[in-house]
Amino acid sequence: MTHNLDQALALLSAGELVGIPTETVYGLAADAAQPLAVAKIFAAKGRPNDHPVIVHIAGKEQLSDWASDIPAAAWQLCDAFWPGPLTLILKKQAHVSHAVTGGQDTVGLRAPAHPITHELLKRFGGGLAAPSANQFGHISPTTAQHVRDEFPPEILSLILDGGACDVGVESTIVSLVGPKPVLLRPGGVARSAIEAILGQTIEHKKTTSSANIRVSGLLDSHYAPHTTLLTGTHAQIEAEAMRRSGQKIAIVHIFALTQNISAQSVVMPDNANDYAQVIYATLRDLDQQNLDAILLALPQADPAWLAVHDRLGRAAHHKLSD
Ligand code: TXA
Ligand code: MG
Repeated sequence: MTHNLDQALALLSAGELVGIPTETVYGLAADAAQPLAVAKIFAAKGRPNDHPVIVHIAGKEQLSDWASDIPAAAWQLCDAFWPGPLTLILKKQAHVSHAVTGGQDTVGLRAPAHPITHELLKRFGGGLAAPSANQFGHISPTTAQHVRDEFPPEILSLILDGGACDVGVESTIVSLVGPKPVLLRPGGVARSAIEAILGQTIEHKKTTSSANIRVSGLLDSHYAPHTTLLTGTHAQIEAEAMRRSGQKIAIVHIFALTQNISAQSVVMPDNANDYAQVIYATLRDLDQQNLDAILLALPQADPAWLAVHDRLGRAAHHKLSD
């Protein structure tokens, strides 16, 4: 591992990309201080240039290297949740490049908790710009192999293998640049936990594919498998009908079916955190089976399932009527 970290540091300093493990999903990292290196991330992912990327840092000691006008709420949230799956949107320092911010005057910052990447960031000293290590719009990777499946060695020579991600869905994003904190993306840290620290409720800004949206994780269609993914509360019934008409399908659901269904059935954990940990890997596995469709029975709409619901809503190609 020491050797790999040395190699990672050398590549990053040379302006190359490195795949990094985090507790949420794997990231495609570049030195955030080198705009040309950051540009390679966008080229590799096929991501529009005006979408900002998160800057990963070792801890709150580096926060003021990247952010300015830092409000008290930011320090409170860092103390409570860093290192961990929380990204803060703050006013940027003047030097933070257009390549990182997508031309905005804000920057997203997070200190990931994965021990390998934490060590890498401590030794690197600077910031690593890193979106999830997947092709634009595709499912986020939760293992090193998933990253390799997305990027050939010519584009990404080194992926640090930190095992399967603990959290499994991306970080929670909270913006602290307006008059009130706003939840931009539900994720690894529960909204209620953030509200408890801040002593106030935070608005969840549900955004869809409106004209000027520049937060790619908030696009209507994102985190998606290539196979058609259909979601709904009556997915089982639809699945059976499709199977009878000769289609090759799989059904993903929490509880085993009572009726005998002849489609491939994947039973998921009934706890939101455990579900989140395996959902992307499950969709990737199913995506490799040449199915006509994946039908997913949505878990209950409950605050604990907010992040899972958000991602499934964006991953789905079509919502079945309820
Ligand atoms: O868990 C995570 O956050 C993972 C790991 C690798 O850290 N990263 C991740 O990055 O999900 P990405 O780029 O796939 O999604 C980050 C989201 C995007 O929707 C991006 O537009 C938004 O953060 N973002 C970054 N900087 C922003 C800013 N200044 N203002 C608003 N949104 C921002
Ligand atoms: Mg992403």
